[in-house]
Amino acid sequence: MSQYTTIVTETRGRVGWVTLHRPEALNALGSTLVAELADAVVAFDRDDAIGAIVITGSERAFAAGADIKEMAGRSVRDMSVDSPFAALEEVSRVRTPLVAAVAGYALGGGCELAMMCDIVLAADTAVFGQPEIDLGVIPGIGGTQRLARAIGYYKAAEMVLTGRRMPADEAERAGLVSRVVPAADLLAEAGEVADRIASRSLPVVYAAKQALRASQETTTAEGLRLERTLFASLFALDDQTEGMAAFVEKRKPQFRHR
Ligand code: CAA
Repeated sequence: MSQYTTIVTETRGRVGWVTLHRPEALNALGSTLVAELADAVVAFDRDDAIGAIVITGSERAFAAGADIKEMAGRSVRDMSVDSPFAALEEVSRVRTPLVAAVAGYALGGGCELAMMCDIVLAADTAVFGQPEIDLGVIPGIGGTQRLARAIGYYKAAEMVLTGRRMPADEAERAGLVSRVVPAADLLAEAGEVADRIASRSLPVVYAAKQALRASQETTTAEGLRLERTLFASLFALDDQTEGMAAFVEKRKPQFRHR
């Protein structure tokens, strides 16, 4: 897929940018947008010249959730066997770190998309929420699981069961976002964070993300075993030799991503 209609993609240095672009629907995650988003993120992930991916929306909305108008007439089969959200699983599984730059509404699937990312930068205008209960459904793209892990059961339960929205400052205190920044600085800050990640050794960054992800998906014992294995394996890399030599020689490392 090269000609996207609902997203805009761009490469800046070693960072891939994906901007959701359905202004008429506050970036609602319709099936076309989901397919294009997954396609773009997976393509960046496969590209060794990309070391980090930023996902962002507009000033008004990161994404206002799944597309309710598209979903309204769907059947059980449509939403299970032929789920329009299945492609988002691929986004949640990429090796490359994802940075969400969130301004405005991040509701329902929008909040869930942000939570698939590894770093969530929020503008002071950001508002998070899982309002599905008001539509007669529940979160369906990871909201009950990732939100409970991010902010704890009791805060997550209040949001999911009542649909209460959480403003950026509260979301930062609760642990749902990495950092809140002034809205005018959001994209510059996201670019800086992504550049910093992308300047590090790619295979080492992949290993760090894989180990971090295990902390959310497996037992502590399994996660510790994986971390130990990954840590030891990195001593086969030129970049480990270079990183440690650079420290000893008091210079900046020149990583070659191998
Ligand atoms: N799906 C489809 N269209 C949407 C949408 C959505 N999730 N959110 C907003 N829109 C559309 C509106 O229908 C409207 O279109 P029209 O101009 O054609 O009427 C346009 O975007 C602008 O929206 P509003 O006029 O409503 O703007 P507002 O500033 O008054 O309100 C809002 C903004 C509070 C975000 C409100 O639009 C809203 O509540 N949106 C729905 C939020 C929601 O319930 N999200 C969860 C979706 S379900 C889900 O995500 C399930 C899952 O986990 C898989």
